[in-house]
Amino acid sequence: MYPPPAEFASRAHVGSLEAYGELYRRAAEHPEEFWAEMAAREVHWFEQWNHAFEWHPPFVKWFVGAKTNASYNCLDRHLAGRGSKPAIIFEGEPGDERIWTYRELHGHVCRFANVLKSRGYKAGDRAIIYMPMVPEAVVAMLACARLGITHSVVFGGFSAEALKARIQDLDAHLVLTADGGWRRGREVRLKEAADEALADCPGVRDVIVLKRTGGTVEMKQGRDLWWHELEAGAEAECPAEPLDSEHPLFVLYTSGTTGKPKGILHTTGGYLTYVTCTMKWVFDLKEEDVFWCTADIGWVTGHSYLVYGPLSAGATCVMYEGAPDHPGWDRWWGIVERHRVTNFYTSPTAIRALIKQGEELPARHDLSSLRLLGTVGEPINPAAWEWYHRVIGKGRCPIVDTWWQTETGGILIAPMPGAVPLKPGSGTLPMPGIEAEVVDFHGKPAPPNTEGFLVIKRPWPSMLRTIWGDPQRYEQQYFSRIPGIYFTGDAARRDEDGYFWILGRVDDVMNVSGHRLSTMEVESVLVRHPAVAEAAVVGKPHEITGQAVCCFITLKQGFEPGDGLAKDLRQWVAHEIGAFARPEEIRFAETLPKTRSGKIMRRLLREIVTSRTVTGDVTTLEDLGVVARLAAQEDED
Ligand code: WTA
Repeated sequence: MYPPPAEFASRAHVGSLEAYGELYRRAAEHPEEFWAEMAAREVHWFEQWNHAFEWHPPFVKWFVGAKTNASYNCLDRHLAGRGSKPAIIFEGEPGDERIWTYRELHGHVCRFANVLKSRGYKAGDRAIIYMPMVPEAVVAMLACARLGITHSVVFGGFSAEALKARIQDLDAHLVLTADGGWRRGREVRLKEAADEALADCPGVRDVIVLKRTGGTVEMKQGRDLWWHELEAGAEAECPAEPLDSEHPLFVLYTSGTTGKPKGILHTTGGYLTYVTCTMKWVFDLKEEDVFWCTADIGWVTGHSYLVYGPLSAGATCVMYEGAPDHPGWDRWWGIVERHRVTNFYTSPTAIRALIKQGEELPARHDLSSLRLLGTVGEPINPAAWEWYHRVIGKGRCPIVDTWWQTETGGILIAPMPGAVPLKPGSGTLPMPGIEAEVVDFHGKPAPPNTEGFLVIKRPWPSMLRTIWGDPQRYEQQYFSRIPGIYFTGDAARRDEDGYFWILGRVDDVMNVSGHRLSTMEVESVLVRHPAVAEAAVVGKPHEITGQAVCCFITLKQGFEPGDGLAKDLRQWVAHEIGAFARPEEIRFAETLPKTRSGKIMRRLLREIVTSRTVTGDVTTLEDLGVVARLAAQEDED
C-alpha cells in the first residue's frame, strides 16, 4: 500500500479518506442535491434546470430544462480571469511549437465557428473531424460545440473504410480534415484517405482542409475548401448558442461485439459537469498545473481529458502531435522538462514500451515538475506501476489508475490521490455518485475476492445516452444482462478493502494498446479477403500491448498457406481498419474448432494462443480438429 504523501494530501482538493467517504456518502444519500450542487459550482448555465435528473431505465436526462454550452464553458467564462493564461501548449512532431492563451484559443474558435455558420451549419447538424493532433483539431471540436453541431472525431489512424462507415452512420454533411499529420517523420496522408472515403458519401457538402504538412492534395471543386482561406475572412466574435442540457455534444464510435462500431452519444450539461468534477477529484487540478494527457483526440480519453475536462476546468494543456519515439525514445521526457508538466496521464502500453528503453533516457531529463501520474485504458501490471512510480515519479508522485470507458464519458473508478492509499494494479474506489458493484450471473453481489461482472447501479451525469440511431442495441448491450442496470462488459473483483481490480473484458472485445477492437470486426474484414474461407480472431497476451490480435484462418480452394499470404492478410486488416488493428499473428488451420451447433469455440482458441499447445508455424496447417474433438464435450451448451 502507498498512502498519499503528507505534503500532497495537505494541499489536495480531497485530503483524507474521511473527506472522500463523506463526499461518497452525500452523493449516495442525496444524489439530486449532490449533483445539483456540483453542476452549479463547476459549470456555467444560461438557464437553470427544473430537476437534476430523470431516470426511466435505460434512458436518463440530466439537468432537465437547463441551458448551457460546452464551448462557452471551455473558453468564454475563463476570459476575465485566465485570458492570458496558456490554454494549449502544442509541440508538433517536427519540433514546431505554439502556445495559445485562452483569449487566443477563443479567437480561433469564434472565427472558425463563424466560418461554419456562413456555410449554413447550425445546431442539430453533424460533422466528422478527421485531423492530426494539432490545436486546430481542438478548434474544430469547440467551434462545433459552440453552434450545437454534433461532432464525431475519427482517429487519424483509422482507414478510409472505417472513416466512410462513420460518415455514413452519422449522416454527416460536413467533414473537417487536413492534408496530413506527422508521425515518425512520415506524413500520414489524411486528405487522401478522406477522398477515398468520400467517394461513397454523396451526402457530404463541405470538406474543410487544414494545411498542416504542406503535402500535395487534390481539392475537389465545389466540395473542398481551404481552412486558412475561410478563416482569414471570418469575424472574431461569435456568441455561444445556449443549448439544451441534453443537446448531443458528440458521437464517438467504439467497437462492440459485432462487426459494426457503435456510435456512443454524449450530451452537454451532464457530461461537462462530470468531466470537470473529475479534473479536481482524480487529477487534483490546481491553477498553476500544466496538464498533459498523451491520448489522441480520436479516443474518448482525448475528448474528456485533453479537451473538455481540462479546458472547462481552466487548465493549461500540453498537446503533442507525434510518436513517443521520434526522434528518440526520450521525446516525452523532453516535453515534460521543456514545459514543466505537473500532471502526466498515459497508458500502460506506453509505459511498458518506455520501460524497454531503459532508465537512462528519463534520467537525462529534469522531471522534477511532475507531481501526479495517471494511467488509463487497460489494467497496469504491478511491475510497470512500480517502475512508473520509481523512475518517472521518483517515488514522490501518486499514480491514479483510472478505470472508465467510452460509454461512461468520464473516470468512474480511480483513487483521489490525496485521500486514498494506492495498491499497484487496482483502480481502488469509485467516484462519488458511482455505485459500482461486482455481481454474479443473477446480479447478486459477489463476495470479496470473487470474480464477477462489473456493473454500475445508478445513472451518473456523463453516461452515454444511447447508441446513435439504435436505441434497441443500446438497451440490449448495456441493460439486458441484468435488467435496468448498466453492464460494463468488464470482469472485476473487489478485495477485502472494497478496492476494485479490473480483470478484462468478458465479451469478444480485445484491448490492444488500450484500444478497443472487436474480434467480429476483424473477422468480418478477413472473410472479405479473396483467399479466406473462415476466420476466428482472439486476443493473445502481449508483453507490451497487453493483447495482440491473433487470427485463425481457413483458406478457400486453390490457396496455399505461407508467409506471403500471412503478410498480405495482416496488411489487408491494417488497410481496412487501421494500422493499430494489424494482426500480430496469422495461423492457418485445416478447420476451425466448432461446437456441434456450429459455434466457433473461441474459448478453446484463446487457450491455444495463451498456452501454445499447438504450433504457431504459419507454413503448416494446424489440425485444430483434434483439439476441438477433445474439448468438444466440455464446450457443448
Ligand atoms: C479497459 C478508455 C483496467 C476496460 C477510457 C474498459 C481498463 C475498456 C482501465 C474501455 C483501467 C480502461 N484498468 N482496464 N484503468 N481503463 N480499461 O472505451 O476493459 O477505449 O471496458 O475507454 O478499457 O475502453 P475505452
